[in-house]
Amino acid sequence: MVCPGSFDPVTNGHLDVFARASRLFENVIVAVMVNRNKQGLFSSQERIDMVKETVAHLPNVKVEGFEGLLADFCKQRDIGAIVKGLRAVSDFDYEIGMAQLNRGLTSVETLFIATNPEFGYLSSSVVKDVASFQGDVSGLVPPAVAVRLKEKFD
Ligand code: PNS
Repeated sequence: MVCPGSFDPVTNGHLDVFARASRLFENVIVAVMVNRNKQGLFSSQERIDMVKETVAHLPNVKVEGFEGLLADFCKQRDIGAIVKGLRAVSDFDYEIGMAQLNRGLTSVETLFIATNPEFGYLSSSVVKDVASFQGDVSGLVPPAVAVRLKEKFD
């Protein structure tokens, strides 16, 4: 199965989803997607590198970058399921549409994991906002990401 996202940057909330998925499934691919509609803070390579460092302790999780449709990524690798974290009803509104679209495109199923309430408010955007004002992001992102955010906003 695959955990897709733009991960700009990866947060402790994402890591929680990867770790939980890695206990449920034999093999997990984290797909770092290039989203043309989102102007990223980090380059694709930086985002991939940060995810790799973040999941280094999870032996059955591997990381791949991809530019294109998530449905095509799944089709090319014969992936049967997409796993995504759901924080709130607002996520559901968007995610249900994506799940239906992707299933229409290539019969791939989407499974949702209820986010740990500890990370309910956490998002890559919130992290970038806090870091841009030199706020403390140490509880929000893995250490490797905190270092890179500091470099970006110093
Ligand atoms: O972390 P995000 O930005 O919420 O992740 C969204 C993502 C990358 C999963 C989504 O934008 C995506 O799948 N993009 C790839 C292009 C695509 O397949 N678009 C249509 C269906 S989502």
